[in-house]
Amino acid sequence: MGVLDIRNVVKIYPGHGPADEPVKALADISFTVGQDEFCSVLGHSGCGKTTLLNIIAGFDDATLGTIHLDGRPIGRPGWERAMIFQDYALFPWLTVLGNVAFGLEMKRVPAEARARLAQRQIELVGLSGFEHRYPHQLSGGMRQRVAIARALAVDPAVLLMDEPFAALDAQNRSMLQDEMVRIFMEQRKTMVLVTHSIEEAIKLSDRIIVMTRRPGRVKANIEVDMPRPRREESPEFVALKARIRDLIHDEFDLSELPGAAAPFAATPAVGASPA
Ligand SMILES: Nc1ncnc2c1ncn2[C@@H]1O[C@H](COP(=O)(O)OP(=O)(O)O)[C@@H](O)[C@H]1O
Ligand SMILES: [Mg+2]
Repeated sequence: MGVLDIRNVVKIYPGHGPADEPVKALADISFTVGQDEFCSVLGHSGCGKTTLLNIIAGFDDATLGTIHLDGRPIGRPGWERAMIFQDYALFPWLTVLGNVAFGLEMKRVPAEARARLAQRQIELVGLSGFEHRYPHQLSGGMRQRVAIARALAVDPAVLLMDEPFAALDAQNRSMLQDEMVRIFMEQRKTMVLVTHSIEEAIKLSDRIIVMTRRPGRVKANIEVDMPRPRREESPEFVALKARIRDLIHDEFDLSELPGAAAPFAATPAVGASPA
């Protein structure tokens, strides 16, 4: 369960109106995420990460290519592909318990089992005692824990996460990353995380897909075989971080920096004002 196979996926957004050029977001993406594997998709902003995740979730269609989950082509959005967004997307009118039980209701799980399963997930994400709070009564980190519990409660085949920690401050982000490692170790599941943080990808992943700039392609497919939890100071961590940073820096086009006239314009013109 939970083998995700992405083959030659291309996405071209049509232009909006006669003057608008179509946008090629994904060029030709192929990779496989194994059962109970944690896979991160890492790349610069705008390289097509959200586009890819939305296609996997079924919110959008690929222009070309196929995606199979356990040998079956993916279709419309469904509970077997749960998604966690950056901005929590909780229902403000439901309590923590209500939010976590919501997907189970959709899945027509009977009330008694629903309460039990929801409670278990709330415990797993460390929110026992907060069942009857509403989202506005929680911190950003706690809200994202609710979103994780809600997504996992339906027991999806794959959990999709689009920069789920990006809106948190550095300390909370780091804490929730550690929590995610613990949750993954306790409840193994195929997970796909989209991120632009190299450290986050290394902390969490069995596999890291490094993307090129737009239109996104797979620049590198790296298997990470390090015991968890991983220490950022460890030599393996530092070495992998340097390797990935080099890969990603290759993708940085200096000509696109604001104020840069040309990639190799090293000598400023006489009398040029400082940038
Ligand atoms: N609905 C859309 N219509 C047209 N272009 C889009 C649309 N959504 C995203 N794009 C473009 O596709 C590219 C990839 O976007 P996105 O997948 O959001 O990147 P990322 O998540 O890696 O930052 C960007 O250039 C973006 O402007
Ligand atoms: Mg994005």
